[in-house]
Amino acid sequence: MVQITFVQPDGSRTTIDANEGASVMEAAVSNGIDGIFAECGGAMMCATCHCYVDDDWRDKTGERADGEEIMLECAAAELRETSRLSCQIRLTGALDGLVVHLPDEQA
Ligand code: FES
Repeated sequence: MVQITFVQPDGSRTTIDANEGASVMEAAVSNGIDGIFAECGGAMMCATCHCYVDDDWRDKTGERADGEEIMLECAAAELRETSRLSCQIRLTGALDGLVVHLPDEQA
């Protein structure tokens, strides 16, 4: 299991346990985290799974996937250097303790 902490725009935090191999989006949705809509189910076609990776975790979550950048430009909230589609971050043991921040709007 991998722990992920989601930080809402108001600063409130929720920590969940997720399975390795799942995406951050899947972990959020299955745990009822507010602020991740994932309308396309992870097909990289909606940008409603936008999140900001905490600065301390940027190296470990890797680069954006091919095509991710284009979808991020469609995201409702501000695009930042730390912006990722949470459906494109696959959980591994190296991400245990991951912190992601949620945007103030998704659609
Ligand atoms: S769930 Fe639609 S782009 Fe991630």
